[in-house]
Amino acid sequence: MDMTVSRVDPGFEKDVMRCFQEQSYAIPARWLYDRQGSELFEQITELPEYYPTRTETSLLERYSAEVGEMSGTDRAVVEFGSGSSTKTPHLLSATHPAAYVPIDISGEFLAASAAQLQTQFPELPIYPLEADFMRRINLPSEVANMPKLGFFPGSTIGNMIARTSVDLLRFMRETLGTGSQLLIGFDRIKDTDTLVAAYDDSAGVTAQFSLNLLHRINREMAGTIPVDQFRHIAIWNDLYARIEIYLEVQADVHFTIGDNQFDIDKGQKVHIENSHKYGLRDARLMLRAGGWSPVREWSDERDYFSLILAEAHPFKNAP
Ligand code: AVI
Repeated sequence: MDMTVSRVDPGFEKDVMRCFQEQSYAIPARWLYDRQGSELFEQITELPEYYPTRTETSLLERYSAEVGEMSGTDRAVVEFGSGSSTKTPHLLSATHPAAYVPIDISGEFLAASAAQLQTQFPELPIYPLEADFMRRINLPSEVANMPKLGFFPGSTIGNMIARTSVDLLRFMRETLGTGSQLLIGFDRIKDTDTLVAAYDDSAGVTAQFSLNLLHRINREMAGTIPVDQFRHIAIWNDLYARIEIYLEVQADVHFTIGDNQFDIDKGQKVHIENSHKYGLRDARLMLRAGGWSPVREWSDERDYFSLILAEAHPFKNAP
């Protein structure tokens, strides 16, 4: 007899119930990343329309040596939400750090990518840390006395609303300490067609990524949501400078999740993701609000994406 009890994450259950029972019609974007969602996201990063990954990777290829010159070789690189760590080798080979600490909430992903990097950098001490980086974290004692270079690529910060972004930047400062540096990616505001296409690609992979959230509810919470009745929508909200992703129901639907019954009217939208974009000085202001002083910024020829190096200077009395 199979004795495995697969428990749904209580946080996921609570958020899904709040969406449908309390009719908030919003689900936090972090639930998009189960195994299937993470695989689909990897596919998104290769799409012709999805420029952020390839633009940021080429910035890292071009400018990591300059980052290295500005950060020195004695630092521990601490990567927040390392996931599959695909951009990390460029930074590690150019900066020659004293240690590398990948942090991720998924231990499974973390162990695999740390092992892979260890074969590429056999001399580098690697200390993987399974943790939620949305809180202050105690770093491994081995790196306690090393200066730190935080690394937060991918414009992942863009998936948070401004208040949460600033909280995160403050936690990062507390985790890394005064005197540390942070290399962070920000996706820039650009023409609306380019932005919308990046989140509504012609092959429909982003739509599959969004709809997987409903499949996940059906899989993990014994749901009967008719997924084929929902449509992925990506719109540009200029007031908030962000792409908003919704799942819109195409007909009146009835479904169950466990013992709960739900009726949703045609046209109702479920908000599942935001991806904020940043104007020339917006990202720098965001960093300063979180206690980080920008010291250098690199962008591509089209200004599609920016990498910013910032420092946690000691706080001074402001005039
Ligand atoms: C992970 N994050 C930075 C992606 C983005 O561009 O906001 C997530 C994504 N969602 C749909 N496409 C990509």
